[in-house]
Parts: sequence; C-alpha cells; structure tokens
Amino acid sequence: MTTTLIDGIGLLYTGDPAREEIRDAALVLADGLVAWLGPAGRAPAADRRIAAGGRCVIPGFVDSHAHLVFAGDRTAEFEARMAGQAYTGGGIRTTVAATRRAGDAELATRAAALVAEMLAQGTTTVEIKSGYGLSVEDERRSLEIATGLTDETTYLGAHLVPEGVTADDYVRLVTGEMLAACAPYAKWVDVFCERGAFDGDQTREILRAGIKAGLQARVHANQLTEGPGVRIACELGAASADHCTHLSAADVDALASSGTVATLLPGAEFSTRSPYPDARRLIDAGVTVALATDCNPGSSFTSSMSFCVALAVREMRMTPLEAIRAATYGGARALRRADVGWLGPGTRADLVVLDAPSYTHLAYRPGVPLVHQVVQGGLLLE
Ligand code: NIG
Ligand code: FE
Repeated sequence: MTTTLIDGIGLLYTGDPAREEIRDAALVLADGLVAWLGPAGRAPAADRRIAAGGRCVIPGFVDSHAHLVFAGDRTAEFEARMAGQAYTGGGIRTTVAATRRAGDAELATRAAALVAEMLAQGTTTVEIKSGYGLSVEDERRSLEIATGLTDETTYLGAHLVPEGVTADDYVRLVTGEMLAACAPYAKWVDVFCERGAFDGDQTREILRAGIKAGLQARVHANQLTEGPGVRIACELGAASADHCTHLSAADVDALASSGTVATLLPGAEFSTRSPYPDARRLIDAGVTVALATDCNPGSSFTSSMSFCVALAVREMRMTPLEAIRAATYGGARALRRADVGWLGPGTRADLVVLDAPSYTHLAYRPGVPLVHQVVQGGLLLE
C-alpha cells in the first residue's frame, strides 16, 4: 500500500461540519481513501508527497443533477431565448428525436466526454439521468450507458409525454414495462412535475411505482411554476427536490420539516433568463441546500460547478462558505452518500487543489479555470 501526503495546504475546506476549515493543513491518502488530515505540523510520514504550495484544497464537487445521455444540439433554441422567447421545456422533444436516431456508441462517447469535461473541472461524483429516450428501449439503453459512467443513475422516463401517446397510456408504460426494463440499471426514479409535463397525481403514481421497484425518489419540482412537486417529494421521502424556483411558504415548511434536500440549479435560471431560487429563504428556514449544474442541452448546458458556485454567491446571495458546502456536502446529501462530498478519515480520496488561496475565489474570479489538480479515488489525474 502506497501512502500519499498532500502538504502545504494553505486552507483545507473539509466539508466536515465538526471542523469545516483547517489552515496550514495536510492530508494523507491510502488505498483510495483519506487516512488522516490535520495541521501540517502533525502530519505522519508517507511514501509520496504532493506539495500544494499554499493553495486551497476542497472535496471533489458532487454534481447531483445532470442529463448527459443525449444527441443533437439546441443552439437555435438558446438564441431564440436570448432574443426574448420563453423557456417551456417543449424543446425536450427536439433532443428526444435526435437521441432516438443516435447509435449507442455515439451516445456513450458524448456522455463520457461530458463526464471527462466535468472531472477536469473538479467534479468527482456525478448523477446521470435518462429522459431523452421516452421509449422502453431508448430509456433502457440510456441508463445502461449511464451505468458505465457512474453509480448514481436516475430513471427519468417521466420527463415529458412523447408525441403520439396519450398521457394515461404513457404513465401506464412508465410505471409498467418501461420501469421493469430500466430498474436494473437505476438507483433513482425522477419525474418532471410541471404544468405541461406530469401533474401531482401522475407524479405520485410514478414515484410510488419506482419505490416499489426498489428505486429511491427525487423530483424535478417547482421549476417553472408553483406546483405540488416539492410537497410530494417531502411526503414520499424523496432524497431531493430539484429546482425549487417557485416556492410557497408551505413548500419551504415541508422542506424544513423533512429530510428532503433542496437542490438548486442556477445554471438553468441563467440560461433561461429566469428569476433565481430564493436560497436565503431556504437556508434561513434550516433546509439542506445542494447546488448542481443540471447539465443538459436545453435549459443549462454547463458542466461547471464553479460557475454554479459563482451564480449562487452573486445572484442567490449565498455566502461563499454556503455555496461550497452546497456544491460538495449538499450534493452528497442529495445522493444519500456519506463517503463523498467531505474529507475525513475513511471518506473517498476525491479532492481538488485550487489555484487559489481560498474557495471564495470560485465566485470572486468567475470564469477563470482555477482547478490546479484533481484527485479521484486517491489517483492524481494528469
Ligand atoms: O432540468 N426540466 C426538465 N428537464 C431539464 C431540461 C430539459 C431540456 O430542456 O432538455 C431541466 O431543466
Ligand atoms: Fe434537470
């Protein structure tokens, strides 16, 4: 067993609520895990040494919401939006048509390229949804491709009702034959609960069927309008309610009194030119908040967690500490993972050395590539 010492860490953000930040710190990695961390002066000896040169080290980002299995391009839709057209989610059908036409190899190559793009930017854990197939075989193969890239795979057959099918028939398919084909490849079940997509009753039915098949729930909730999504997520014990852009007082109360994480996706508000979620209201109410990219070709085609941190600080009035916490520890909570999103003895050795003295620079220097080194599972990526 080779042990690695990372020393010369100017600021270590551990993500461990018990001791969140350590100045002049060191870390020892062994067997792909963190073996020790603490003040540099007390670091034990190791076989190998990485000198951080006074930089800041953070846990690898946990991007708990991404749609990476797709083909096609929606640049024209983005241009139309920037010229004043509203986002409705209807463009999902354009991506569905392109995805159905694409071969498995093309879909797998494109998804792998996005995962590599994320990793180079410090994302060491990513969730990947289906949802651009909307047929039994296209959803199944989307998830099979996703399982080659992450353990965090989500069945989103209920993204939209495809053309040529009635909503009732489609819900029957999503809760029946499609679920049976997809469940072996999925950890999570998700529904786009929104006007024009799936209503409250359909959302409940689909999530319940997924839970019965052994999946855990998460919900696209309250993105474009105030609706029942958040309350259903809390009622069914979902790990996360995602978007949370339009919330009533009852929604905030439901989140605060449940274990459901509110996952905020400011890349979507940026790219659809929409009002940002009220992060302060959620945090002040005691809700656990996560930040994720929502990387997808329609509403948020960014793979950058740093960009989301910058948006959270500038546009959603989260403090830099709240934002980095939401992008690491919060994401891990949204995926019910205790082994990632923070650094302590026994966690996975997933971390980022930033070319900056503190994580605040992620917001202070937006758009600047500040990732100096990435370590995933104890391996330093070159
Ligand atoms: O999370 N809201 C639904 N799904 C995606 C957008 C999908 C698309 O526009 O292609 C989202 O924003
Ligand atoms: Fe999404």
